[in-house]
Amino acid sequence: MKKALIFGVTGQDGAYLSKFLLKKGYIVHGVKRRSSSLNSSRVDDIYSDPLIKKKKFYLHYGDITDSISVYNLVSTIRPNEIYNLAAQSHVAVSFEIPEYTTNADSLGTLRILEAVKKVNKKIKFYQAGSSEMFGKVVEIPQTEKTPFYPRSPYGAAKVYSHWITINYRESYNLFACNGILFNHESPLRGETFVTKKIVKALCKIKLERQKKLILGNLYSKRDWGHAEDYVEAMWKILQFKRPEDFVICTGKQYSIKDFITLVSNDLNMKIRWKGKGVNEKAYDSKGNCIIECNKKYFRPAEVDTLKGDYSKARKLLKWRPKHNIKSLIKDMISYELKHIDD
Ligand code: NAP
Ligand code: GDD
Repeated sequence: MKKALIFGVTGQDGAYLSKFLLKKGYIVHGVKRRSSSLNSSRVDDIYSDPLIKKKKFYLHYGDITDSISVYNLVSTIRPNEIYNLAAQSHVAVSFEIPEYTTNADSLGTLRILEAVKKVNKKIKFYQAGSSEMFGKVVEIPQTEKTPFYPRSPYGAAKVYSHWITINYRESYNLFACNGILFNHESPLRGETFVTKKIVKALCKIKLERQKKLILGNLYSKRDWGHAEDYVEAMWKILQFKRPEDFVICTGKQYSIKDFITLVSNDLNMKIRWKGKGVNEKAYDSKGNCIIECNKKYFRPAEVDTLKGDYSKARKLLKWRPKHNIKSLIKDMISYELKHIDD
């Protein structure tokens, strides 16, 4: 039975990956941070699922900013595979806490790689890289060969992790790989990311539980996929015969405004836009203003457009996304409507 160790198990991807690996027959060890309130809600259902015996899923306290805990976990668990999903993952927040973001998102990766190097060089390592590294993109679409131009402390920190992963692979012959994943969403997405914020607010507005949604830049474009598809790609990357880096995306892009239109169409809500720039607003059929913009949600530097090319993953990993934007939105809306009172 293979053993996986997941840093960042309590996050969106950690929850989907745990379920995916358990189905594949793995024993899963997850690392969670100590927090003053409960932070394991995304994986709590694993414990209550009768199909998954408790002894296959373990949670440990740890923190990727703490070398001692990282080393102790790797050396006592001795996993076959490590997935480093742990990060301060919010781009806007990375401008507010740049030093912490760098510590977790850059040095955290180095700490895990060092532990692998010391404990057992055969442990396979997956690094959660990001399309945010492409930043102010120098070509469209972006591939594994596109140069990086990060636009945030988060993006810059992830670039360090990308290269240190390659450096440990080349220097110490580790099976260490980067997934360069484009935005991926799901019902379990954190509430301050734009897709979840839009879906949740429009569901509540539709049911008259909320009056207004406040957003930032409506014109950036993203290549959005479903987290369920992307965790499968993470696993496939580590099963490939050689350690390599892969872009994972859908190859399609939509603006934030397009995303709002798709969600409102699915909810059968008619909206009308008026105004320009930060004064642009959306109105419902009764003339109520339901969406407006506020400068506080704009970033000091924006990533205007992201669109990937997953040809390498399609060819070598036989991976392709099963979801499209419409099925992603349906999944998110259906979850939101079921949990409207939570
Ligand atoms: P997420 O929901 O924000 O989850 C991040 C996880 O990291 C959480 O479990 C969080 O714990 C944990 N974490 C944060 N700081 C930590 C620390 N110092 N020590 C240990 N754990 C820590 O992010 P996600 O969407 O699942 O993304 C997973 C990874 O993929 C991240 O590295 C992210 O940067 C990267 N990524 C995400 C996307 C995307 O679109 N989702 C795209 C490309 C790359 P708490 O629950 O306690 O906060
Ligand atoms: N969060 C947020 N909140 N974003 C907004 C808002 C708002 O109210 N209004 C507009 N936006 C715009 C942002 O300016 C950005 O251009 C876009 O919506 C997407 O923002 P996020 O959903 O926060 O995602 P992100 O693209 O910045 O980062 C996500 O994807 C990266 C991969 O490219 C995160 O998951 C990162 O961890 C990930 O690496």
